[in-house]
Amino acid sequence: MVYDKQISFEKPTRVDGTSYIAEGIDPQEANNVFLMFSPNKEEAGALAKVLNIFESHKVNLVHIESRSSTKVPGYEFFVECDGKCGSIGKALDDVRTHCTYMNIISRDYKDNENAVPWFPRRIRDLDRFANQILSYGAELDSDHPGFTDAVYRNRRKYFADIAYNYKHGEPLPHVEYTEEETATWGIIFNQLTKLYKTHACREFNHVFPLLIDNCGYRADNIPQLEDVSSFLKDCTGFTLRPVAGLLSSRDFLAGLAFRVFHSTQYIRHPSKPMYTPEPDVCHELLGHVPLFADPAFAQFSQEIGLASLGAPDDYVEKLATIFWFTVEYGLCREDGQLKAYGAGLLSSYGELQYCLTDKPEIRDFEPTVTGVTKYPITKFQEVYYVAESFESAKEKTIKFANTVPRPFGVRYNAYTQSIEVLDSKAQIQNLMSNIGVEFNILNNAVRKLKV
Ligand SMILES: [Fe+2]
Repeated sequence: MVYDKQISFEKPTRVDGTSYIAEGIDPQEANNVFLMFSPNKEEAGALAKVLNIFESHKVNLVHIESRSSTKVPGYEFFVECDGKCGSIGKALDDVRTHCTYMNIISRDYKDNENAVPWFPRRIRDLDRFANQILSYGAELDSDHPGFTDAVYRNRRKYFADIAYNYKHGEPLPHVEYTEEETATWGIIFNQLTKLYKTHACREFNHVFPLLIDNCGYRADNIPQLEDVSSFLKDCTGFTLRPVAGLLSSRDFLAGLAFRVFHSTQYIRHPSKPMYTPEPDVCHELLGHVPLFADPAFAQFSQEIGLASLGAPDDYVEKLATIFWFTVEYGLCREDGQLKAYGAGLLSSYGELQYCLTDKPEIRDFEPTVTGVTKYPITKFQEVYYVAESFESAKEKTIKFANTVPRPFGVRYNAYTQSIEVLDSKAQIQNLMSNIGVEFNILNNAVRKLKV
């Protein structure tokens, strides 16, 4: 039994290249294929022809929507096909001949060499993850401290159901924590806060008092996700959404692309306050939340998420490993001294002390190396990677992201809370013109500063 050790939700759980969808959870949707296409403009009735193709190959359309194309004059169509009936492959071949362009986005992308793995394009698409969890939060393993505790299991089901039914845009449900739960939180809070000043990085210690002032971080109070999420939104645009169980690495990282962090809301079993076999609200609120309020760290986290969108499995695995060695277990250098910034460290009384001793091996953060490093999940890390700064970690991660083999670039549009897929000249020109406007603002501000 390992005490005082966190295992994170974000651990890549299925890294063998098999499907990222938990079998049996939603097989219907897991096989669906998503298409984006623009029918040939010159061809009269091209859309009707395309729709007829689906009909003739007996492929059901589950969803269809149209929007202005950003690549060509006219419209593009976003279609979700039921992948379980008809001859989808033949239909796609025929559709392609009637289109100016066509992108296939599929959860079942391994069977189609032209397909890009599905990823959310709009923030509300994250609702689709709720029923694609790899394990339900109420299901406990036989060695879990709460396994034989019917009251605790019931409580876990209550939290899992909250998350399962949550939809984007709704307020995060307020939870009345019991006295026992609050007492567990209090034990952990009192222990960890003794170490933060000496062991945590400067950015963490800057934000933590603000959480005490604004979000009810106290030994006798478990902060509400809604209050914390609103605080983060004001600081960096990050928000929290409750999660009912284990998400795949691909889905978890995709949330970060939208500056959305999937957070648990339940607390560990009271019998072992310094141990949890899975992330809980203590890990999220004490470990993760403070740094999501830091602009450079928020940007760094989002870059990992953006790099993962539509990436092949082996790259998602590398990005999840980079996440592990940075956001979960990262160290940084501050005035020549090592400090902790990883959430797995900042929420573990034992490992937070251990990581700054001379026992573990310390290496410089380098995504190409870090991303392929093996790591243990049930004991303290043997190797930690050190970032010189969040800015430098971000630059290195962006460089790494450029090596992800995918036929497009991506950009997060904060106005529409959507991902722009950049794969046409017109889009790139538009982006350059926007950057030109930003550059003018910068130029003007710099000139005024000099006066
Ligand atoms: Fe975590």
